[in-house]
Amino acid sequence: MENPKRFAALLCEWYRAHKRDLPFRKTQDPYKIFLSELMLQQTRMETAVPYYERFLRRFPDVETLSNASEREVLKHWEGLGYYRRATHLLKAARTIRDEHQGEFPREINELERLKGVGRYTARAIHSIAYDGPSPAVDGNVMRVMSRYLPYEKDARKTKHMKEIEAILQPAIETERPSDFTQAMMELGALVCKKSPRCERCPLQRECFAYEHKAYDRLPVLPKKKPKTKESYYTFLVVKEGRYLLKPQGPNALLSGMHLFPQYKAEGFDEAFASLKDDYALRFTHYKALGTFQHVFSHKIWNMKAYLVEAFEGTGTFYTFDEAPAIPTAHKKIVYRRKK
Ligand code: ADE
Ligand code: SF4
Repeated sequence: MENPKRFAALLCEWYRAHKRDLPFRKTQDPYKIFLSELMLQQTRMETAVPYYERFLRRFPDVETLSNASEREVLKHWEGLGYYRRATHLLKAARTIRDEHQGEFPREINELERLKGVGRYTARAIHSIAYDGPSPAVDGNVMRVMSRYLPYEKDARKTKHMKEIEAILQPAIETERPSDFTQAMMELGALVCKKSPRCERCPLQRECFAYEHKAYDRLPVLPKKKPKTKESYYTFLVVKEGRYLLKPQGPNALLSGMHLFPQYKAEGFDEAFASLKDDYALRFTHYKALGTFQHVFSHKIWNMKAYLVEAFEGTGTFYTFDEAPAIPTAHKKIVYRRKK
């Protein structure tokens, strides 16, 4: 980058004029910045903001969160996906309570030791909450910088993200780090999107990709692997108005969450036999509810869903009001039923 001071000034002036009014931009509380960064990692802004506000009403600070149960924390994350973010956040809060006397750590290396805090998140917290001069580089920043510079190496590799950090280092040192980091994010979110809006970009006059119409080939990203497909028979077993739910163990895809029992099987008979066997089930009747699909980041679940009216069965049955957190993959079966 030829003129880091000019780059930072153009970027931050644009940011101060155009930034969205977002709840986590009214604070420099590191706990709230951490929460917002975690929620935004895999979730769109419009979805994340109401969750952010509700989460903070119940868990306003690290201490309150550290004393909560995983079950309640997951319930506040229900529907957001990537539930490991919530269990990591809770673990981090407990570490801060037990090993940092309840004070959110200030140093990058201490931040990086918290669960759920990687290289990017540590630098985002350090710059946004503490105005530390640490460039935070995620996929959005790689997209902007790959196009601007240009930068033509694989934008997903940590090694390459570190190179971009080093390039941004002199720029962040000339500005308010909190504005600089959020300006990079905001430019990636609003302007330099997959399909960029170069006509409103403050960097346009110096941008390589704009000059060379190269935004379709930058950033350089590795080919995505196709998602694995899995097929299940999924059973909504209802007994006296309550539904059978199965807690997911620590190694499960949806660890900590609760699912309706489901089976990979050759056919319905085999799956239904496993269900009856696992829960010593006695039932009056059952019916098909249709097929459902849920797309995860690396997987696709195809589910054939059945409602089973039972009068006897082991396992734990819940009403929806008192149920622990159920992921959207299974909630959607319930929603379609209610329509
Ligand atoms: N995505 C991740 N962090 C963000 C932030 N602070 N502002 C906008 N989008 C973001
Ligand atoms: Fe991205 Fe276009 Fe701005 Fe270049 S000019 S940084 S391609 S939005």
